[in-house]
Amino acid sequence: MLHCSQISKLPRLKELFLSLCSIFLLSASGSAASANEPAKAVPAAAVAAAPAAAPTAIAAKPSKGDATAGEALYNSGDASRGVVACITCHGPKGMSAVATWPKLAAQHGTYLTKQLKSYKDGSRANPIMMGMAATLTEQDMLNLAAYLVKQAPPQGEAQDKATLELGQLIYRGGIAAKGIPACSACHSPNGAGIPAQYPRLGGQWAEYNAAQLGYFRDGTRKNVQMNMIAVKLSDLEMKAVTDYMAGLH
Ligand code: HEC
Ligand code: HEC
Repeated sequence: MLHCSQISKLPRLKELFLSLCSIFLLSASGSAASANEPAKAVPAAAVAAAPAAAPTAIAAKPSKGDATAGEALYNSGDASRGVVACITCHGPKGMSAVATWPKLAAQHGTYLTKQLKSYKDGSRANPIMMGMAATLTEQDMLNLAAYLVKQAPPQGEAQDKATLELGQLIYRGGIAAKGIPACSACHSPNGAGIPAQYPRLGGQWAEYNAAQLGYFRDGTRKNVQMNMIAVKLSDLEMKAVTDYMAGLH
């Protein structure tokens, strides 16, 4: 807000700018898209035109997933387009049997499509999944997500009794002395996550989640919120909290 109130020289400009500031603050998400909107919406004509323009823009993009098509692609791939069957690694109904391959069952759709897009554009750098996502269309991604989100949530078990208490403390309360927030604040107390932004973590392989925390810590995987948290976590704390989360449901 400081920089908003600093523009005080020209009264008319100030008034306009402050109203823009409040529009911006009201559009709670603060995303790049909403930051651009107020600037475009200033002239009255543009305001009037905006609602009419919006539906066409949305209609041009696929917005709904077809779970049946997603299931077929997940289980069989599509050799004609070079899409590998996801089931090969991620298991039947998204329940992978191998700890380096994440469980995808019941993961939130918006989170899943975001990750697939990030692999495709390379912003989430992983050699295996970048290859898998390269041939997927946006509609494929929506279809796969629509199928996966409908599957039963994964169940797992914590393996290390010695670190269980530490893991639970971090998950539920964070570590105040190190400025680490409670994971439950965003990922929910039972690990189910909060759609659409905050992924489900409960029942996930500890090895996979610990690897991701490592990627967030060294910056290989980029997310402002998780990067800030992961740089403060020690190896032991990562291991403890991900093992605890594996048994969370
Ligand atoms: C050869 C094995 C393999 C195949 C086949 C495969 N994946 Fe993956 N997948 C992985 C691995 C390994 C990771 C973890 C990558 C990382 O660390 O970023 C992963 C991660 C993911 C993630 C991120 C999960 C999360 O919680 O963030 C999604 C989503 C995903 N895969 C979807 C798919 C889909 C959809 C397909 C089929 C089109 C597929 N994968 C095929 C191995 C595979
Ligand atoms: C302020 C909100 C917030 C808090 C608190 C938070 N997270 Fe996250 N976390 C996120 C977001 C957002 C993502 C998704 C990032 C993305 O889209 O790539 C995420 C993703 C993750 C992932 C990757 C999951 C996957 O399937 O690949 C792990 C693991 C994780 N968080 C662990 C933790 C742990 C452990 C804590 C507590 C120490 C924690 N998070 C606290 C917001 C949060």
